[in-house]
Amino acid sequence: MQTLTVGLAERSYPIHIGTGLLANAELLTSHLPGKRVAIVTNTTVAPLYLERLQQTLQEMGVHSMPIVLPDGEVYKTADTLNTIYDALLTHRCERSTPLIALGGGVIGDMTGFAAATYLRGVPFIQMPTTLLSQVDSSVGGKTGINHLLGKNMIGAFYQPRLVLADISTLDTLPDNELSAGLAEVIKYGLIRDLPFLEWLEQNMDKLLARDTEALQYAVLRSCQHKAEVVAADERESGERALLNLGHTFGHAIESGMGYGNWLHGEAVAAGTVMAADLSQRMGWISAQDVARIRRLFQRANLPVVAPDLGAGKYLDYMGHDKKVEGGKMRFVLLKEVGKAVLKGEVPSELLQQTLEACCARVSAEPTECA
Ligand code: NAD
Ligand code: GLY
Repeated sequence: MQTLTVGLAERSYPIHIGTGLLANAELLTSHLPGKRVAIVTNTTVAPLYLERLQQTLQEMGVHSMPIVLPDGEVYKTADTLNTIYDALLTHRCERSTPLIALGGGVIGDMTGFAAATYLRGVPFIQMPTTLLSQVDSSVGGKTGINHLLGKNMIGAFYQPRLVLADISTLDTLPDNELSAGLAEVIKYGLIRDLPFLEWLEQNMDKLLARDTEALQYAVLRSCQHKAEVVAADERESGERALLNLGHTFGHAIESGMGYGNWLHGEAVAAGTVMAADLSQRMGWISAQDVARIRRLFQRANLPVVAPDLGAGKYLDYMGHDKKVEGGKMRFVLLKEVGKAVLKGEVPSELLQQTLEACCARVSAEPTECA
């Protein structure tokens, strides 16, 4: 097992990464002073891992109350959030009752928002079970739900007390979900770690074959980056925005296609290729760089061509992006491979060209961005 710390003064917390962690009572003891917890999970994860976790808690003398939600991005809504509140209130959960999120990013984001708001805040523990949630969403305290007008538009920054990333849970993850997680892993290489990107190029086959050592290294390296960035800029007033490489386009894809139709990681992959295309048009990276980025996503079995929503719809959704400032869109782009920047003034003709090259041509020629 390897342990990292997210350094946020009195709100600092550990991230434990390893195998068999759901059965490790020792890791939980100091975080569960009371005798009760609520576990929020879903109908897919519950049959796989709920009993194991409940057994661990029972051995510690802690009673756990499961809240099992329907599975899917389409349920990341205010209605589902209300069912969490209903269960907590019905069972008279108190301010000292921690909420454990057992599942992927959807469960983690919703449980975190419930923890931030129930009784104005209760302790929160992340037990991520997808690659995406282990490398990204469980760390850093972004919590929330979707709105019809935009992804993750309602939420709060609320840090967990502990993140427990049990790599063994990845054994049961469907292949397309593993690939979706790899999109966020590749992201760290692209924005701030060229040697890690090279390592990913060399080890992609091992990762896809679920080699435990390779997966653990990828989770560790990703969490190191996430922890460093969050410690420096918790509320995203600067550097943290760089973690959104590909997300401005990606969120438009997710919203435009209807939540759940494109996996978040898939949308991020196609969106990152669009960001790379735009970076090339800005004169910062070369056509070979864009091809290299596209190739790595393809090797991870991720889409590199965005759906044809039409430029107008993309611009509309991107206008709701959380990075919009003073009504102006801002983009995370690549100054070079391994170095991202936040750019305010992108010439509209270049953006239009990217939208046309990466999307509008799709139905006619489903290959790649120019
Ligand atoms: P997800 O939570 O929908 O999980 C993917 C699928 O895998 C679901 O069907 C889930 O039930 C299933 N699953 C989970 N663990 C499993 C396991 N071990 N074995 C088998 N099946 C399993 O999707 P995700 O990719 O984990 O997360 C995506 C969400 O995370 C999006 O809503 C996105 O907005 C959010 N996100 C948040 C942040 C953040 O910083 N808070 C960062 C990135 C993404
Ligand atoms: N996933 C981007 C962030 O946490 O800031």
